[in-house]
Amino acid sequence: MGKFVVLDHPLIQHKLTIIRRKETGSNEFRRIVGEIGGLMTYEITRDLPLQDVEIETPIGKTVQKEIAGKKLTIVPILRAGMGMVNGVLEMIPSAKVGVIGMYRDEETLKPHEYFCKMPKDVAERECLVVDPMLATGGSANMAIEALKKRGVKDIRLAVLVAAPEGVKAIQAEHPDVDIYAASLDDKLMDNGYIFPGLGDAGDRLFGTK
Ligand code: URA
Repeated sequence: MGKFVVLDHPLIQHKLTIIRRKETGSNEFRRIVGEIGGLMTYEITRDLPLQDVEIETPIGKTVQKEIAGKKLTIVPILRAGMGMVNGVLEMIPSAKVGVIGMYRDEETLKPHEYFCKMPKDVAERECLVVDPMLATGGSANMAIEALKKRGVKDIRLAVLVAAPEGVKAIQAEHPDVDIYAASLDDKLMDNGYIFPGLGDAGDRLFGTK
């Protein structure tokens, strides 16, 4: 079974409370979603392997550490996942971005893939799927499936707010995928929103309500 980790660092909790407030406007919401994405990346990448590298400082030769192993692809699920990309890129500027487009049928609440553009060497990369909300888990499950079809073996999922139902759905379909969240909320409501959640993340990011 993949790990489910709540990254409840005080800075993350504080920033999450700001974006939960209904009076927080798109400008601030967008900025803070990015910031939380960056802070989460710091924690998610704690176990990245290191290798020795010989360098020369102005004083002399020394052996130091650099990140070894696979390169990262950030995979935002359109459109709300885009809100987390810049924050992750600030921590890992060399990461590539592979975008996957899903929309949720407002009646059935089921996700549909309509766009997928990945780096050519995605199968050799570690993928970090990002989406602010893990509600039913339908979109994230489809995005993970789409990556596995393209040969990706190493996948992590980062969300801001997770519903217990969504966590269970991912763990049932993709037990090899670790899930990281800033919060595990109470429940998924019948209308598809997470309670207490933060509302529609896409609308709040892009000011489309
Ligand atoms: N998607 C959102 O944007 N918000 C929710 O609460 C659930 C799914």
